[in-house]
Amino acid sequence: MKNNLQLTDDGRLRHLLTLDGLPARILTQILDTAASFVAVGERDVKSVPLLRGKAVFNVFFENSTRTRTTFEIAAKRLSADVVNLNVGSSSQSKGETLLDTVANLSAMHADMFVVRHAAAGAAHLIARHVAPHIHVVNAGDGRSSHPTQGLLDMFTIRHFKGGFHNLRVAIVGDVLHSRVARSQIHGLTTLGCPEVRVVAPKTLLPRDVDNLGVHVYHRMDQGLKDVDVVMMLRLQNERMQGARLPSAGEFYKHWGLTVDKLRFAKPDAIVMHPGPMNRGVEIDSEVADGPQAVILSQVTFGIAVRMAVMSILAGN
Ligand code: NCD
Repeated sequence: MKNNLQLTDDGRLRHLLTLDGLPARILTQILDTAASFVAVGERDVKSVPLLRGKAVFNVFFENSTRTRTTFEIAAKRLSADVVNLNVGSSSQSKGETLLDTVANLSAMHADMFVVRHAAAGAAHLIARHVAPHIHVVNAGDGRSSHPTQGLLDMFTIRHFKGGFHNLRVAIVGDVLHSRVARSQIHGLTTLGCPEVRVVAPKTLLPRDVDNLGVHVYHRMDQGLKDVDVVMMLRLQNERMQGARLPSAGEFYKHWGLTVDKLRFAKPDAIVMHPGPMNRGVEIDSEVADGPQAVILSQVTFGIAVRMAVMSILAGN
């Protein structure tokens, strides 16, 4: 069902809603296309005309720093007209439904919607209702998925590690509330990573963790042992109902990534974080700013990856 909505009858990408069920062929096409766009960002003239004359609407119902701005830069580098909808001041606060908002933006000749919403399935809902020529990109829906973050993480791993087939990867922290973790897991398993671990306290793991094809660890020394990649997650307090955890200090003591804990990983392991980071909660500054961190590279690669997604969609 997911695939039917995302792919055309002849197997091309129509919307990007989730990495769950998306074939490796499509993921690789996006990563390869992104590789060709990395150089564009390093040129004096940073734009290409692939989306000239197209209108991209960034519709964000939830806060965002990196995702919204890199989607905007990516669309501009493709020469699209970009509109950023400030939802706080939009008609939603006056009671307009999500689909009415989208219908009105469609009436303004939108060609693409990039949507972030607190409700899981919001981008799917929009994709089911837009006209056939309009493409929808999910920029994060609830705890469900964040496919472009998953893809830029895959791009970063491929860049620094050369591929996925011999890797041991640990995803650490608040997996329960993380749409990023879900997209990372689907990306890694689809691209052939043989060992994906999640390292978290029992209270921060989703109930369906056993169906995700990952190895579960509850201790950092065991979970990080000999891994090639450490992917940290933010402790998402805003998504927690009730106290599931002791305190930020307690969390840091057991699960925060310090230089000492990073020593359990391979000496050349890379450290990733989707941002925003909580220094001193899930990650220590010495690690975040240290030689193994590739956190800012993730941000830069995010532009090329989002250019790739938008150009592939518009090309289809
Ligand atoms: C993430 C998100 O919003 O899902 N941030 C991001 O897009 N880079 C992760 C988070 O909020 O912790």
